[in-house]
Amino acid sequence: MDKSILQLLPKIELHLHLDCSLSYDVVKKLNPQINYTHYKNNFIAPEKCLNLGDFLRCTNGGIDLMQTEVGLKEVVKDLFVQLKKENVIYSEIRFAPLQHINGGIAAEEVVQIVADTAKECISSTGIKAGIILCTLRHYNEEQSLQTVKLVEKFIKNSVIVGFDIAANEAGFPIDSHKKAFEYAVKKDIPRTAHAGEAKGAESVWETIKYFSPQRIGHGVRSIEDDTLIEYLIKKNIHLEVCPSCNVQINVFDNFSDHPINNLYNSGVSVGINTDARSLVNVSLSDEYLKLIETFGWGYKHFYSCNKNALSASFLEDSDKTILREKLDTFFVQNSILWQE
Ligand code: ADE
Ligand code: ZN
Repeated sequence: MDKSILQLLPKIELHLHLDCSLSYDVVKKLNPQINYTHYKNNFIAPEKCLNLGDFLRCTNGGIDLMQTEVGLKEVVKDLFVQLKKENVIYSEIRFAPLQHINGGIAAEEVVQIVADTAKECISSTGIKAGIILCTLRHYNEEQSLQTVKLVEKFIKNSVIVGFDIAANEAGFPIDSHKKAFEYAVKKDIPRTAHAGEAKGAESVWETIKYFSPQRIGHGVRSIEDDTLIEYLIKKNIHLEVCPSCNVQINVFDNFSDHPINNLYNSGVSVGINTDARSLVNVSLSDEYLKLIETFGWGYKHFYSCNKNALSASFLEDSDKTILREKLDTFFVQNSILWQE
């Protein structure tokens, strides 16, 4: 399969961390003293990390560069350039605003800067996008509530579309975050939550019970529990699957051990994502290529995953209709290119 076709494919990517997706170009622009070797060693995580905690240690370089208005703006613009290159037509980009206040910018201003820059990029590139604000597992109740209230404040007439919890699922319990998610439910704020990545199916159950998310970030270890799979299907809870990242953080030994093919075949709604373009050192087209090479995926899989992701997105229905037409046009017109 010719990779140039993969780049042309219109794609929906719902699970993408802003602070883990800095290209070498933007890093060099923000700090010209950083050479490629330094970038490789500090902004790209090792191909095989010990675990999620080990992987997350590599986020520091990007976060350090995103403590100023210029840093935040340039990183957003850089990500849109990366998305445009491989025809991502809709992306939900996430970040934790409270990680960007060390340089003296208030959390509200951080969100405003990112939202304004994203809006400019949306109109200059034609890519539709939403921003999800994350609380982090190691945050306390107050920080989590502060983050969800930022979503509440910015969600009207803005590109801010939802709330998430990220960081180390295996290292910290969910207790400090129950109130924030209760608040999100009460205010009808769309919710996703990282779970079933560094911990097993029981973590997905717990997340569903206390956070009532419409989607799960990763959720790949749901495959360990048939009842959970049935539940996800019944409730139409979408899994934002990021296969290369899961292999890198050592949830699975190799790409061929990843359950994405079984999840897809089970009938669960799954989408394909990178999670972190620089940390994982992968593009979305690379993910698609690995799925073709490893599991024999083709036209019908990518069409279906993109439609699933679009349905599960936090977009308004009218916007979903426009993007669904874009997907339909491409996939139907070009089905001839795909040999199943
Ligand atoms: N932040 C960035 N990537 C992540 C992942 N895979 N899991 C949890 N938090 C993250
Ligand atoms: Zn993630």
